[in-house]
Amino acid sequence: MKQETKIHSSLKTVEWKNNTVIMIDQTKLPNKLEYVKFKDYNKVADAIRNLVVRGAPAIGVAGAFGLALASLQSKAKTKEKLLEDMEKAKKILFETRPTAVNLAWGLEKIMETAKKGNDTNEIRKQVVETAQKMAVEDVEINMRMGKFGSELFSNNDVIMTHCNAGALATVGYGTALGVIRATKDSGKNIKVIATETRPVMQGSRLTAFELQHDNIDVSLIPDTAVGYAMAKGLVNKVVVGADRILSTGHVYNKIGTYQVATMARQHNIPFYVAAPLSTFDLKNKPDDIIIEQRKASEVTGVAGKKTAPDGINVINPAFDMTPPELISGIITEAGIAKPPFEISIKKLFESKL
Ligand code: MRU
Repeated sequence: MKQETKIHSSLKTVEWKNNTVIMIDQTKLPNKLEYVKFKDYNKVADAIRNLVVRGAPAIGVAGAFGLALASLQSKAKTKEKLLEDMEKAKKILFETRPTAVNLAWGLEKIMETAKKGNDTNEIRKQVVETAQKMAVEDVEINMRMGKFGSELFSNNDVIMTHCNAGALATVGYGTALGVIRATKDSGKNIKVIATETRPVMQGSRLTAFELQHDNIDVSLIPDTAVGYAMAKGLVNKVVVGADRILSTGHVYNKIGTYQVATMARQHNIPFYVAAPLSTFDLKNKPDDIIIEQRKASEVTGVAGKKTAPDGINVINPAFDMTPPELISGIITEAGIAKPPFEISIKKLFESKL
């Protein structure tokens, strides 16, 4: 296992090299930057389930790499048998995390490629190429999104963000943090306020770490200080990522996002969401969406130390839904959707056809 002391925003969160999937072990950040390597798709599934890799776009690509590994692991000699083995692997990878739509999207793209192949050798070669292409495109898409998004921010803005929607939640550059990076690169002087993001602390462990490393002025606040910061005029815009966006503009993102959006509305602060088109789910309605419930121990302790009484009941949803009426704009690689979202989101997808 390789160890390094520095992280670059250009560093690949998840990567394919010599038929191996390499990823940063995000459970160790910010204390250690360690890479893990997998040749078995079951191990990739474990890594997604246990948040070694996390963030919607990153798990989309990790899932695609996992399924590519499954094609190499299969001993199948016929196309039918190989597709059957890959379907089994797809199910295992798919069931790791239910809320972010990018995982299903990544797996589906690989299966589509596999079905088009003529024989097992061609399928194996093409699924690996497709997964690698998805990783390259993820960074390009984030950079395009960043350019569009940077136009919404002005010199001297203080931007609040929640959770981690940075390089570490994607293959590189980031969605919400990509917009922040692009704004800074366009010459504007900006500051960021990052929330801690209890209970898994993606804000303090990952966002604060990434931004500090990249010399972007960042202050960390407890989640409970969002209202305080807004009421005191310490923030004038918000940008967050998303794990799933419906055609109606309902946004599913890290737990606490809804509270931030509600507070932003209370204080007339624009609330933006940045996400690639692969995060959109144009089929489902709010009632169909499964919110992942995570283990109680994330809430009953801090850093391995018990902070709640034994046997306490815990409710620990990983995501919440922010309704469209609280959202000022959704930044994508195809442009910015503004309310009414049913119309603007439809137009964005039509422009990509
Ligand atoms: O750590 P996760 O995978 O549970 O959290 C998901 C996220 O990082 C976010 O909700 C993020 O803001 C959107 S993904 C760029």
